Parts: sequence; structure tokens; C-alpha cells
Amino acid sequence: MLVPLLLGATTVVAALVVEREVSPIEVGKDAPENAGAAVLHPFVSFSIEFSSFPDFAGNLSEPNDFSNQLLENLADLQGVKPYIRVGGNTQDLALYDPNLKTSINGTVVPSLSTDYPSIIYIGDSYFESYATWPGTKFSHGFNLGKNGTTGMKTLLATVPLACRALKDGKLAYWELGNEPDLFVDYPARPADWNEKSYVDEWLSKTRIIKRQLQKSCPELVTEKDYRYIAPSFAGLTNSLDPLKTWQAGLNDDRNIGLNSMHNYIGGADEPGVTLARTLMNHTSTVHSVAQHVNLSRVLNEQDLARDVPYILGETNSLYHQGKPGLSNSFGAALWGVDFNLYCASQSIRRTHMHQGTNYRYASWQPVQTNKATIGTKAPYYGNIMVAAMLKGGDDSENEDDNSQVQVVNLPMPHETEAAYAAYVDGNLARIAVINMQEYNCTNIEESSSHRPSASYAFRLSDISARSLSVQRLMANGSDAITGISWDGWSYNYELERGAPVRLANVTIGEKLDVDSRGEVEVKVPYSSAVILSLD
Ligand SMILES: *[C@@H]1O[C@H](CO)[C@@H](O)[C@H](O)[C@H]1NC(C)=O
Ligand SMILES: *[C@@H]1O[C@H](CO)[C@@H](O)[C@H](O)[C@H]1NC(C)=O
Ligand SMILES: *[C@@H]1O[C@H](CO)[C@@H](O)[C@H](O)[C@H]1NC(C)=O
Ligand SMILES: *[C@@H]1O[C@H](CO)[C@@H](O)[C@H](O)[C@H]1NC(C)=O
Ligand SMILES: *[C@@H]1O[C@H](CO)[C@@H](O)[C@H](O)[C@H]1NC(C)=O
Ligand SMILES: *[C@@H]1O[C@H](CO)[C@@H](O)[C@H](O)[C@H]1NC(C)=O
Ligand SMILES: *[C@@H]1O[C@H](CO)[C@@H](O)[C@H](O)[C@H]1NC(C)=O
Ligand SMILES: *[C@@H]1O[C@H](CO)[C@@H](O)[C@H](O)[C@H]1NC(C)=O
Repeated sequence: MLVPLLLGATTVVAALVVEREVSPIEVGKDAPENAGAAVLHPFVSFSIEFSSFPDFAGNLSEPNDFSNQLLENLADLQGVKPYIRVGGNTQDLALYDPNLKTSINGTVVPSLSTDYPSIIYIGDSYFESYATWPGTKFSHGFNLGKNGTTGMKTLLATVPLACRALKDGKLAYWELGNEPDLFVDYPARPADWNEKSYVDEWLSKTRIIKRQLQKSCPELVTEKDYRYIAPSFAGLTNSLDPLKTWQAGLNDDRNIGLNSMHNYIGGADEPGVTLARTLMNHTSTVHSVAQHVNLSRVLNEQDLARDVPYILGETNSLYHQGKPGLSNSFGAALWGVDFNLYCASQSIRRTHMHQGTNYRYASWQPVQTNKATIGTKAPYYGNIMVAAMLKGGDDSENEDDNSQVQVVNLPMPHETEAAYAAYVDGNLARIAVINMQEYNCTNIEESSSHRPSASYAFRLSDISARSLSVQRLMANGSDAITGISWDGWSYNYELERGAPVRLANVTIGEKLDVDSRGEVEVKVPYSSAVILSLD
């Protein structure tokens, strides 16, 4: 059993290494009662902005191998390639043009957004992008935003294109509509459009999709394959209430595979948003996730979403595509580790980190543009550490394998730190510690450039292991946007186009002794994170 003990107060000031009067945190050998439900494999997944998908994936003549490499790296760690949700605001703006010779014709309307096009046509070759990443499963987002004749034409025409692209094992789920809880504002529904109107429209259009599938891809109309992620709401307090939506019969056709909601910690343009206050702050993550935990509990109590796992189908740090200097920094990577592991500990079973071309919070920039350099970005390294923490059992190659990975949040005294234990098939496998004390390397005087650490102690009861191996997520500081490494590996584009490269200047192969009482202590530099493994 897990008995969290309060640590003694941190003493900082002059000392370079912050020593603590540490009472070790007890970590049991067996998964405790308060562990999250087993994560879905894969847990680390992505959502890619509909209009950016051709940039991320390429097409048959020019597949984007860099993106594929980054997905393979995650598969090597977590056992399965990330699932890719293709969707976002632009999914509800895209219209089909049968005469379009290119995959997409997007026109940016600066008054609406400078980050993505608001007038969008897609052609047949858009769907080639589903063929460039071997072994990857996708959800395709159909347009719900555009209704009337034009919207219906696009829906009817894109079902056969999408289903032919995704048959042969590439389909994870369908999706109809992105953030319909914001439709009253944009792209347009009458002010009295309520939960019942949404559910009626969703049910009638999904039934149309099903009839089209029966004609074009009947093999996909099975209980296993014909499933949706829904309702894909932006939040819990917009014009549609998710609880009332389920009560209004969203799952009347019993075809919702995953209850998908979206989440952002805050807004890029919100006043007062900083790394230390907003992202490298465990309390802010706990507050943000609490609303989902509550909704999930209420849905269970009312037996509305039985056997429908709760996921975040679109999430990232700061909405409006992130804030430069924050969302693309190493501090945001540390936030990503804390946020994702905390979600896992609260029975949010999978997260899709949202991506788009030139987006500030993106894990990688898939193509060179005049706004952003092609490359692996800091948040990717956070995705890597989460994948390493949630690695399945020996048979994790097999996505149907039933090795259960569960996460427990180990309470810590300060909001700048977080710790987790991962259990595989009920047995303690790994401990993660994230030290989010800000260490801004640009701000550090040359003379005082020694980086403080905090010390963390754990007592592992009934563990036979005599030593633990140590892997670190490291960079020069929380504001670093490059030079990041995981266990000495770099996945940067400019080295081997995203393939792992061992850096010569980072220490690896560290071991920690477990003493006769089962105690182990690890020093974690400010603005860095660590995994201790029993194997
Ligand atoms: C495939 O991608 C390349 C590179 O972006 C582009 O030049 C070409 O037009 C694309 N082909 C189609 C059919 O869209
Ligand atoms: C692309 O869309 C714009 C805006 O709707 C339109 O003016 C233009 O003709 C389109 N280009 C092609 C090649 O269809
Ligand atoms: C669009 O959907 C709304 C809500 O269901 C409905 O009131 C409206 O009539 C629809 N518009 C068209 C053109 O079908
Ligand atoms: C961390 O977030 C919580 C909740 O949003 C907030 O109350 C607290 O002030 C934040 N901490 C700092 C240092 O800003
Ligand atoms: C939990 O969810 C219910 C149903 O949506 C809501 O009425 C209640 O206010 C929520 N509680 C909290 C603490 O958010
Ligand atoms: C880091 O310090 C520099 C120099 O004081 C400052 O300009 C920058 O905003 C800081 N970065 C962050 C993310 O706080
Ligand atoms: C990190 O710090 C080292 C040592 O001061 C320096 O050589 C290196 O250039 C820094 N890396 C980055 C990306 O700033
Ligand atoms: C280690 O080497 C990498 C690649 O050259 C560099 O980006 C990084 O800043 C270096 N780190 C340190 C601490 O010197």
C-alpha cells in the first residue's frame, strides 16, 4: 500500500544542491487501490490539424519520412505507434472539390486566423496522406460544421474516399465534428441550437455515413470497426453541456468507442500566462484535469457511458496554437510529462497532443516554412519520456496484448514537483520524478551557473532489486528550445533526420543503490525529470 509522507521543507539559498531532511515516500510493490485504470495502448497519441495533415504525412510520391521516424521512435518505447486523429477546427471548414489536382487548397483569412486557412477545399489526393506511415491507425474527422446542401455533398463524397484510404487495418475510429459546443459562435448554428439539436443532427448524419459505408466499404460496418470518438467538445462549460448531451441520447446507436473531450491548460494570449505560473505548476494541471475526472464520475454514476473509455482527443499546453518562448520550450516538455502522467493516474486513458504546421506547441515541424524551421521541437522529448514510462509488458509489440499499465500519482509537498509510479500487470516497474523548479539558463550569470538539484527519496517495500537504473530528461534550462536529450539520446532532425543519436556530452548508464531498508535517493536538477526503473 502507498503511504505518502510529507517531505520536510526545502532549504535553498546558498547551497548548490538542495539537501532535504527527507522522509522517503513509500511505494508499494503492488498496484494500490488509487491507481488509474489501465492506459489504452498506445497512450501517447497525436491529433493533427486537418489542414496540416498533408504537411505532416506527405503523399505517396513524397511521404514525410521525418514524421514517420518520430512516430517509430515512440513505438519503440511504448510498443505501438501513436494513433493519429486527423481533425481540429479546419475539419469543419474543409469542402470536397472533385476537380482539385492538389491535396488541399487553403486560403488564410487573417481576420479569422493567421495560423490555418479558413477557406479550404480538399481533393482526392488528400487521402493519399493516410498511406505514408506504415502500421499507423487513424481517426478521420468528417465535417459537421457545414450543413445544408454543400455540407451534405462533402459528407457523401468523402465517406468513400476516407473509408477506402483507411480499410486494411488503418482505421481506429470515425469522428463527426470538432468542438460543436462552439458552433453557435462559429461556423454557425442558431442561438437556440442545444444539446438535443446537436444529438439529433449527429445521429442523423452518422446514420448517413453508415449507409455510405455500407455501399463503399461494407467490410468496415462491423461492431468492431464502425465506431466514433465523440462528442469532441472544446470544454465542459460552453454552449453544450457534455452531460446533457449524453443524457439526450448521443450513444443511442451504441457506436461511441471513446468519450473524447478536449483540453488546454490556458490560452496563449491570456494575461499573466508564464512558464512557472501556468505550465511548470502541478496545481494548474490538477485543476485543469479535475473537471474531466468529475464528468467521468458523473457519467459513470448515471450509467451513461458504460464501457466507453474517457480520452482527451485533442489537447496541448496553451490554446491558440501556443505561445512563443513558452509552448516550444523545455519547460513545456516538462509540463507535458506531468500533464500526461497525471491524466493517466486519473483514468484518462489516452491523450492526443494536438499538432499543426507552424504551431508553437508542436512536437515537431514537419516541413520548412517561412515561419518555422523543420525539426524536432522540445515538447517531443516530453512525449518520449511519457512513452518510456508507460511501456507495456514483454509483449508490448502486440497491441492486443493485455499487459496492464497503471499509473499512481505520488503526492508531493510543492506545486513545482510531481512524482508517479507505473505498475505493469500490477507490479511496480518504474518511478518518475519531475522537478519543475524554474532554471532559466538565459538568465543565469556565468559566475553562479551551478544548477541546484532537489533530492527525492523513496522506500520500496518488498522489492528484491538491489539497484535501479536512471534515465534523465535534460536540457540546459527550462527556457531552452534545443539541445534536449532523453537518456542521452537526441532525436533532432539536423543529426539523423529524427532517428535516435547518442550524444557524447550527456552521462548515461547511471545506477542507484537500494539500501537494506529498500530506500533509494535520487538528485534531480531544477527543470529536469528522471525515470527510475526496476529492470
Ligand atoms: C505530393 O507532394 C509533393 C510535395 O509536397 C507535391 O509537390 C505534389 O504536388 C503532391 N502530389 C499531389 C498529388 O498532391
Ligand atoms: C483555391 O481557393 C481560392 C479561394 O476560394 C480560389 O480563389 C482558387 O481559385 C482556388 N484554386 C484552385 C486551384 O482551385
Ligand atoms: C443547419 O442545422 C441547423 C440545426 O440543425 C438547422 O436549424 C438548419 O436548418 C440547418 N441549415 C440547413 C441549411 O440545412
Ligand atoms: C499554480 O496554479 C494554481 C492554480 O491555477 C494557482 O493558484 C497558483 O497561484 C499557481 N502557482 C504559481 C506559482 O503561480
Ligand atoms: C461535476 O459535474 C456535474 C455534472 O456536470 C456538475 O453539475 C458539477 O458542478 C461538477 N462539479 C464540479 C466540482 O465541477
Ligand atoms: C529567461 O530569462 C531571460 C533573461 O532574463 C528572459 O528574457 C526570458 O523571458 C526568461 N524566459 C522565461 C521563459 O521566463
Ligand atoms: C548548453 O550549455 C553548454 C555548456 O555551457 C553549451 O556548450 C551549449 O552550447 C548549450 N546548449 C545550448 C543548446 O544552448
Ligand atoms: C550536447 O550536445 C548537443 C548536440 O551537439 C548540444 O545541442 C547540447 O547543447 C550539448 N549539451 C551540453 C550540456 O553541452
